[in-house]
Amino acid sequence: MNRIRLGVNIDHVATVRNARGEIYPSPLRAALLAQKNGADSVTIHLREDRRHINEYDLNQIKKKLKIPLNLEIAATREMLKIALKSKPPFICIVPEKRKEITTEGGLNLNYNKIFLKNLIVKLKKNKSRVSLFIEPSLRDVFEAKKLNADCVEIHTGKFCNLVNKKKKFKNEFKKIEKVTKLANELGLEVHAGHGFTYDSAKILTKIKNIKEFNIGHFLIGESIFIGMSSAIKSFKKILNS
Ligand code: PXP
Repeated sequence: MNRIRLGVNIDHVATVRNARGEIYPSPLRAALLAQKNGADSVTIHLREDRRHINEYDLNQIKKKLKIPLNLEIAATREMLKIALKSKPPFICIVPEKRKEITTEGGLNLNYNKIFLKNLIVKLKKNKSRVSLFIEPSLRDVFEAKKLNADCVEIHTGKFCNLVNKKKKFKNEFKKIEKVTKLANELGLEVHAGHGFTYDSAKILTKIKNIKEFNIGHFLIGESIFIGMSSAIKSFKKILNS
């Protein structure tokens, strides 16, 4: 069986730092600790409003990290310029709304299509693997293929919410399963992210061929109680048992 990779999103280490305008806790330290404890990649989202990670973090982490850095960015000229300069091995294009608390849904692949297509061409030429954060929708998988993305990351927020609220999640699970199957058939690598806890991650590992899980908020929260090393190890075990 193929191993499932764990991407650790450390944005919320920066959220805690920024809450007091201090220089700690350090996102770089978190990135290196994630690497030491078996994370397969580290994810950071450089938002337009820099509410958590900033360019200094990006540059420091890019310089020191040996495992792949996965940079999440919105499809804007500013972010394209930063990404081309930084050259992270992995890039995930995400939607961004100024007032949202977190990334609320997948990309609208029909908005600004020409810009998105050119952005993907430029990032791929620059040797970054490009993933598109999408809703679990078959139409979006076809669109992602047409746009020549390398991967799709399925937004699992709705599924995870249903699990958290102990509601029926079977339909959402099946939707994700179908989308994964189609994406694989079209040659797109499939990732999953948003809202994972131990329980929801464990259930979703039952879907074959999701190659990477990107997990942040719950993992960083859990680190308060059991430490980041233990939280990462727990997720690693769940993903591959
Ligand atoms: N994947 C993507 C593309 C994201 O934008 C995020 C953060 O919203 C995550 C994964 C991680 O989600 P969470 O912090 O809820 O685990």
